[in-house]
This record gives sequence, structure tokens and C-alpha cells, in this order.
Amino acid sequence: MRFVEVEKRDNIGIIRINRPDKLNALAPEVLEELEIAVDDMNDDPQVRAIIITGTGKAFVAGADIKYIGTLDEEEGYRMAQFGQRVFSKIENSPKVYIAAVNGYALGGGSELALACDIIVASENAIFGQPEVDLGIMPGWGATQRMTRKLGQGWAKYLILTGERIGAQKAYEIGMVQKVVNHDNLMDEAINLAQILASKGPLALALSKEAINRAFQLGDFGFEYEARLFGRTVGSEDKNEGVKAFFEKRKPNFKGR
Ligand code: CAA
Repeated sequence: MRFVEVEKRDNIGIIRINRPDKLNALAPEVLEELEIAVDDMNDDPQVRAIIITGTGKAFVAGADIKYIGTLDEEEGYRMAQFGQRVFSKIENSPKVYIAAVNGYALGGGSELALACDIIVASENAIFGQPEVDLGIMPGWGATQRMTRKLGQGWAKYLILTGERIGAQKAYEIGMVQKVVNHDNLMDEAINLAQILASKGPLALALSKEAINRAFQLGDFGFEYEARLFGRTVGSEDKNEGVKAFFEKRKPNFKGR
């Protein structure tokens, strides 16, 4: 692929957006390649945790502004749906996605990070939703995911002001889970991915599913959690996990 690199190491997948001359802006071709990469990771039974990062000084500086300039209303709607579809494949994947944010994560880049389960940021990372400065609004999920993750106050502040914030501020408001030294970003992300890949895959997938649906389900969320809990308790992974605990060894999970 031209704009997206894919790498696999043991049980870990790495997706790298690679269009550094345009700060990894997600033009349609880049988004198409990202979708192919995500589909491939989701379908590969060997891969248990996936890292998304960017080449150069940006994670992703947003959707491609040049392309947006050419669109009419209907085309804008389709563009939003396309990005939403790709990002939902990340959010709804049974596997865990880590955004390793190496620099600018603006507009669609911030939305891509928010679609991931965990955000690890370089101390140099900059987050923001600057769409209002272009006279548009976010279209790849920020109004929904940022509101769910950070609450209405911060979602409104960031989306309505377009203010850019650094990694430390993003950590303080709960957007980022870990801020690390820039040079250690990928080592830290890989280390976290290895920890996640060592856990019961079914347990991770179903925990993620229940958390994702927490806002949709209201009180039924507890019933839903209980059902999914039952599925993990009835799994081969549980038998292995409990056996390994008493045998004082690492479990060998199969994801079923
Ligand atoms: N789309 C297209 N091209 C972009 C881009 C984008 N989002 N962001 C940067 N570029 C291009 C620049 O035009 C420039 O290209 P040329 O070398 O051909 O001139 C190149 O990348 C390098 O960028 P800068 O020279 O601007 O780099 P900088 O270091 O001076 O500034 C920046 C960095 C502050 C991130 C600045 O590039 C910037 O503000 N980018 C736009 C960020 C933005 O508004 N993102 C939101 C896009 S809309 C969106 O994402 C909607 C949605 O929800 C789906």
C-alpha cells in the first residue's frame, strides 16, 4: 500500500499512516488503505492487539482539507459516513486498539485516536478539533465519542473553541491514558500491546463490547454484562486461566 504500512510482530499488529509530507492527512485513498489494514488486522487470528501510529511529526492532521474544499453537501455527508464506517470497525473490533500518538492529532486525527480503546501519547502530541476554524464541524465521530469519553463539558469546549491542547492537558481531562517520552513512544505502546495480548482474548473482546454499549443500554447494561460474564465463565479460556493460576504459571489462552 502507498500511504499505510502494516507490520505484524508475534501477536501484535502495527498500522502506520505514512503520508508525512501532508502530515498524514486522511485523503480518501489514505482512508481506503486504512480500512484495508484494519480489516486485515481484525481478520487475522494471530493478531490480538493493534497499534495505530503515524510517520513524522504528525499522527494524523485531520481529513484532507484540499479534498473537503471540493465537496458539496451530499458528498460531505458521504465522506463523513465513510470515515465513520472505518473508525467504527476499530471501535467495534473484538481486538484492542492502541493509538500511539506521536504528534499532531487534529480533526479526523483526534477522532481516529478516540476510536481506539487506549491512547498513549508522546509528550509532544497535540490534540484538537479545529474544524470550526474551517467553518465546518467534526464528521468522523468526535461529537459522539468525545462526549461519551470526556463528557459534554470538555467535548463542547474543544469542539466549539477549536483550541489545541498538549498531551499533558489531554491526560488531565481523561482523553489520554499515558504520556511518555517521545523517543520511547513505540516501545511503551508495544509493551502495553504485549500485556494486552497476554490476557484472555475472549475476556478482552467481551469487556470491550460491554463498555462500548454502556451508554446505549441504560440499566439493561447490567443484564448485558451478566450475560457476557457468563460467556467468559463458560469458556475454555476460563478453564485455562483458573488452572494456570493454581499451577502458578502463565496461562495459554485460545480465545474461546
Ligand atoms: N489536509 C491537507 N493537507 C494538510 C493538512 C490537512 N488536514 N494538514 C497539513 N497539511 C499539509 C499542508 O498544507 C502542508 O502542505 P504543503 O507542504 O504542500 O504546503 C503540509 O501538510 C505541512 O503542513 P504545514 O506547513 O501547515 O505544517 P506546520 O508545521 O506549519 O503546521 C499544523 C502544522 C498546525 C498541523 C497545520 O498543518 C494545520 O493546522 N493543519 C490542519 C489541521 C486541521 O485543521 N485539521 C482538521 C481537518 S478537517 C477534519 O478533520 C474534518 C473531520 O472531522 C473529518
